[in-house]
Amino acid sequence: MFTDDLLKGKRILITGGGTGIGRAMAERFLQLGAIVFICGRRAEVVQKTAQELSASTGGTIEGFPCDVRYPEDVEPLIEQLWAKGPLDVLVNNAAGNFLARTEELSPHAFDAVISIVLKGTINMTLACGRRWLATKRPGVVLNIATTYADTGSAFVVPSAVAKAGVVALMRSLAVEWGGRGIRFVAIAPGAIRTEGAFSRLLPTPELEKALLDHNPLHRFGTLEEIANLGAFLISDQAGYINGEMVYMDGGEMLAGSSSFSMIGRRLPDSAWQMMNPKRTKTE
Ligand code: COA
Repeated sequence: MFTDDLLKGKRILITGGGTGIGRAMAERFLQLGAIVFICGRRAEVVQKTAQELSASTGGTIEGFPCDVRYPEDVEPLIEQLWAKGPLDVLVNNAAGNFLARTEELSPHAFDAVISIVLKGTINMTLACGRRWLATKRPGVVLNIATTYADTGSAFVVPSAVAKAGVVALMRSLAVEWGGRGIRFVAIAPGAIRTEGAFSRLLPTPELEKALLDHNPLHRFGTLEEIANLGAFLISDQAGYINGEMVYMDGGEMLAGSSSFSMIGRRLPDSAWQMMNPKRTKTE
């Protein structure tokens, strides 16, 4: 579908690029000629991924430790990258999420998710955006959102709140900065099998089956599918798409929104207790 030079020479930063969707995008973008930088909280994970993808694709990739929650982590990384040449694309992919009954969440639990998802996206977007604006360079920001960003969802409320903010940021800046050459896009993925997401959100085979039954295509999305969609959206071929969120969920939203509302209502008390680390610690 794509020519091998679709992203040739584009310098792309992917947050949370060491694992899951971020890693799959890094691999695809390298195959399409991009120069890729990945960052994540665990230095050993991003550096290992960078080595593996460099070997498997022959492309140029570097991994950096960075916790997107903290501007004091983000600014030096962006400064360091810009010193070698400006970025062309930022992919805000780093996320945190877990299934929980909202009344049981501590303030810190809310903070943890909102800081990674929303504040992390704000920190990165502003750090890159200010530099693009100051030098009058074009840029693209791709945000990995979620299908429930527009509707909200029970049992993943910190994530729903944070992702709604991410989409609001994306739509707002698409207008505010669009005229100055900065384009914003988002993907709203349905369930895609990754260790990070499935271990926290679909902890049992029964829940996986329930979600598959609910999905019109009766399957999960694949990493290849989301990486290809990302490649198209950040490429110049999608140059007139701005402020748009593309759903990639097999039609799940149309079949009835908010998968986790459905899942959470099926879980017994014992399962909630098992998943709440605070309770397990104290009981
Ligand atoms: N139910 C209720 N509370 C939970 C929870 C759960 N399943 N998991 C974590 N928490 C609470 C913790 O108890 C803690 O609150 P406390 O200090 O009041 O006890 C708070 O959330 C922060 O947890 P902690 O493990 O200290 O934070 P962290 O910064 O190390 O981890 C998370 C952040 C919680 C978002 C973790 O899930 C994570 O690192 N996720 C990254 C990967 C990911 O989520 N991928 C899926 C994306 S879809």
